[in-house]
Formats: sequence, C-alpha cells, structure tokens
Amino acid sequence: MCGIIGYTGTEDVKEVLLNALELLEYRGYDSAGIAVKEDAQTKIYKCAGRVKDLRLICESEKFLSGCGIGHTRWATHGGVTGTNAHPHRVGNVTLVHNGIIENYRELAAHYELEEQLKSETDSEVVAALLNRYYEGQPNETIKEVVTKLKGTYALVILFDDQPGVIYSVRNVSPIVATICDEGAMLASDLTALCRFTNRYFVVPENYILKLEKTKLTLTDFAGREVEPEFLTVDWELNSAGKNGYPFYMEKEIMEQPDAITRTIESRITGGLPDFSAEGIPDSLFTDCERITIVACGTAMHAGLVAQALVKSILHMHIEVEMASEFMYSDPVIDKKTLVIAVSQSGETIDTLEALKYAKRRGAKCLSIINVKGSSIARESDYVLYTDAGPEIAVASTKAYTTQLAVFYLLVAKMAFSRGIFGTEDTQSFVRELQRTPDAIKKVLEKRREIHVLAGRVLDAKDLFMIGRGLDHSILLEGSLKLKEVSYIHSEAYASGELKHGPIALITQNTPVVAAVTQEKLMAKEISNIKEVKSRGADVVVFIKGAIAESLQGEYPSFVLPDMRDEYMVMPASVALQLLAYYVSSDKGFDVDKPRNLAKVVTVE
Ligand code: M6R
Repeated sequence: MCGIIGYTGTEDVKEVLLNALELLEYRGYDSAGIAVKEDAQTKIYKCAGRVKDLRLICESEKFLSGCGIGHTRWATHGGVTGTNAHPHRVGNVTLVHNGIIENYRELAAHYELEEQLKSETDSEVVAALLNRYYEGQPNETIKEVVTKLKGTYALVILFDDQPGVIYSVRNVSPIVATICDEGAMLASDLTALCRFTNRYFVVPENYILKLEKTKLTLTDFAGREVEPEFLTVDWELNSAGKNGYPFYMEKEIMEQPDAITRTIESRITGGLPDFSAEGIPDSLFTDCERITIVACGTAMHAGLVAQALVKSILHMHIEVEMASEFMYSDPVIDKKTLVIAVSQSGETIDTLEALKYAKRRGAKCLSIINVKGSSIARESDYVLYTDAGPEIAVASTKAYTTQLAVFYLLVAKMAFSRGIFGTEDTQSFVRELQRTPDAIKKVLEKRREIHVLAGRVLDAKDLFMIGRGLDHSILLEGSLKLKEVSYIHSEAYASGELKHGPIALITQNTPVVAAVTQEKLMAKEISNIKEVKSRGADVVVFIKGAIAESLQGEYPSFVLPDMRDEYMVMPASVALQLLAYYVSSDKGFDVDKPRNLAKVVTVE
C-alpha cells in the first residue's frame, strides 16, 4: 500500500512529483507529502488529506533543483495526521516508506531514538536510525540499517549532503525504476512511470539503487555493481489517464471489450488455446490431480467462476482459498496440486505468501497477473498475464473480466489436453469466448437502462443479491462491488439457501437484485424471486435474453445478451459493475477512492 515516487532530472520537480502522486493515489489516500532538495536544504510539504490538498499547500513554491521524493499514505502505524504523513526527516536524512517495520519500538528503545521522533510511525524510526549511522557513506549506512529491520519496506532516501541524488532499498514492498530523457525516477508501481517511458526494471530485494539525473546505479550489499534487468510494458504512455471519463472506474468498465480481446487473441492458434509463448508445457495440465486457486477479493471471485467451470467440464477436484486464510487452514497441497494464484497487482501480500507456502509444499504454481514483473509473477513457475492495462480505480473491473477470460482459455486447454474436449468442442468453446467482447459491448450500449435501475437501490441501507450456481458466483462479486463503492450493506446469497435463514431479513421494500442467466436453473431461480417478492421485496432482475419472457414483465429488469450459459458471467458481471458505479456516482461519492481502502494490499 502507499504510493512512492522519486525523481531527479530536468523537469519541474514539483509537477513531476504531484502528477505522479495523483496517479499513485489509488494505493493510499489518507495523506500526502513531498520533499524537494534545494542544494543543502530539504524542503518538506505534507498534510492529512488528498494530493489536491497537498497541491494547495505548495502552490506558490518554485524549486530550482530537479530532485525530490513523494508519498501517498494508507495509514498503518499512527493515525491520519499531518505529522504522521511522509516524508519523515530526522537530522540529515529524509525518507518515505512503504511497508511495516515490525520491530520499530524495539529499535527506538534500543538506540534511544525516542526523543528525536515527532510522529507515531514506524517509518520515522528508520530515518532516525539512518541519521544515527550516517557518516557520508550512503550505501554503507543503508546496508548497516536495513540489516537491523524486521518487516517489509520500500525506502526512498535523501541525504542532505548528496544534492540531486536519491537512494532506495527494498524488501518485499515493490519499487520499479527507470531512466529516460527527462531524468531518473522510481515509483512503487508503473503507473507513475509509464507517462515517461515503457522501459523499467524491478529493483531487486536487498540491492541499493542510486538515482542521479543522468545515471542510475544498482549495487549489491557486497558493493558490486549490477546491470538492471529492464522490461518493457506494452501499456500506452497515456493509458493511466481518465480519457475524458469522470472516474477511472467508468473508463475501465468501458475498456473491457478491448482488454478481453487483447488478453485472448494472442493465445488462440487455429481456434485452440495456445500458451506456447508463455512456455507452459501440456504436462502442467495433464499431470496434476487437483487444483487450488489462491486469491483475494475480486480475484478470488474470478476463481469461484473457474471452480464451477472446472467441476462441470473437467470433473476435477478444485478448491478456491482466500489467500489470507490459506496457510492457516492446513491445505491439502502436494506435488500433484496445480496452484493458481490470481492477482491484478501481483503484489497482494496474502496471495504472495500463499504462493510461497504452496511452492514449499512442492506444488506447481501458475499465476494470472496484470502487472508485469510483479512479485507474484516473479515467484511463480509460469505466468499468464492479463492484458487489461493499468487498473487505477480501487474497485476492480477490467482485471476481473480479463482474469475470467484467461480462466476460460485455461479450462479449454485443460479439457483439450486431458482428452475431455475434442478439437471441435474446444474450438466451439473458444469461439464463444471470442464473442464475449461483443456481448459486453451490447451491455455497455444499454448502460442508461442500468443507470435507471440504480435509482431503485440508491437509498437502500441493506440490499440482497440472489441467484444459483454461476449466478451466485457473479453476485458475490457484484455485491462486493456495490459495498465498496456505494457503502450500501449488500449480501449475496445462493437463492436456495434463503429459506434456511436469510429470508427473515426480507421485509417491505427490501431491495433485492436477482440474476437469472442459467437456463437449467431458471425455474428454481424464478420461484425464489417470487418467494422474496411475496414478502414485500423490491426486486430488480438481470436476466438472459432467451429466457426473459418467463418473467412476464413482472419485475424491473435488464435483459442481457445471449451467450452459452457458462459465458453469461461476462455480460452479467459488467452489468453489475455498472449498477455499483451508478449508485456510487449518483450518491456523489469519490468512486475511485472508496473510504478505508487501497488498491494494492501489501500488509497482512
Ligand atoms: O491486486 P489483487 O487482484 O491481488 O487484489 C485483490 C483484492 O484486494 C482486490 O480485488 C479488491 O478486492 C478490490 N478492491 C475489489 O474491487
């Protein structure tokens, strides 16, 4: 969590830092700050609140130097106050930090640093420790100090006597860096860099990075210089912008047809799924006896859809595990288990730790990731990247549908390589996947109808979503989406379970959103809708076109384009995303930055 930027170069440093922080704000938005080096002086501006508040504070400032660091915070240690905001400065050292220093209290006590500390943060202790050890040798000092730290950190450091120079070191928490015509820069993720260049590298753990205007140097702890391993990202240089949409969430919802096309088309050869570019051998799919999916939040919900497909098509044993619970639940994992980690950011610490645990138990690990070169990707045996482009809104949308698209390809590939599907079955399954961008376009074209339906739930305090089978899986995601952006308490229930308790919550005018997209379940789903309706619920239905007549116009509804049942998930999920989006924007909320949340969850 927390966004970090460091820049030294020829551009207006204040603008570079503030613009980058705006792009990184999705990582945390409690408070923000920058530090700019002017000769031997380091000027700090910081506040509780958003980057726009920080902009106001330093509006009239002009800086001659081109070197500074910045931070957006998601509070862990210490409340949301200006004093706790980063950068922190002690003596000659100024720093920003992402991560958690677990032994900060012990360090502060042992080195008697307390008197120098102004904030309640773990980060300031590191600044104090660096200052204690600093004698003009940045690399030596950094090495000395980080060996005393327990926990996770991405540290970006300015030393007063090193004009124009930025140092960085990390453990677990990510830092990417680059150098281009405008200077050298680093950030906690690519979104802040891709405005400048498509080339970057992931700073390896326990190496010291030194940025100067025209040079960057990477050194290991033994003092040896190493060449950074540059990667290229195919995100467009301005793809992290809003493109005229009021919110990233809307822009990202609208991007889904293209994102899915990009994700699947390069992986289809002769109508069959093809992972040869990723170097994935068929044996990965034929040798495994069970599958375990580990993920969090929306990514886990994508896993639930995959679980249903694997059961019905591959008839294999499969489990979807909340990554945060995984290793404490005595999971059944062995060499015959294929573990699939799913993550947009590739940095979610729970998913990363689950994956490492599975590897230690001998499982083969495949990951489905959006951000290239991220920690989970690097830790995996094989990676299938989604090609969603940068996802900035905290609420995940295009990452989810592209994760689903990869899962459809995976299931087709497994069915083919295990002899369950013949060539024609596989091609027909893949052809249907290729129709999903058009089906989603049809939903997007009719989005005004969903906006009208959103009006029916706008004032709800509690809301229920009901459906069976795959409909239940997508409603879990629809419900999460609504909760996080609109703050309406929403629960998704398997509609057959209603009578076992939850139906007690249905009273006059309780809003209920029902999904009816599975033809074989339709009759039962409609009965369940009638049950809640007859208890006074105000029901809104999202229904597959081919079966829409069965509602006989009794309910306000949105008619979804027809696809094979197992693919209805795609258009239906997009419709539910739009519902959440319109409720949030009509309520006047900051859709992209829901309270208490951050896009990338790098603390356990
Ligand atoms: O980056 P990841 O996909 O690993 O993130 C997992 C969850 O934190 C994420 O999906 C979260 O649930 C979103 N806010 C949901 O919209």
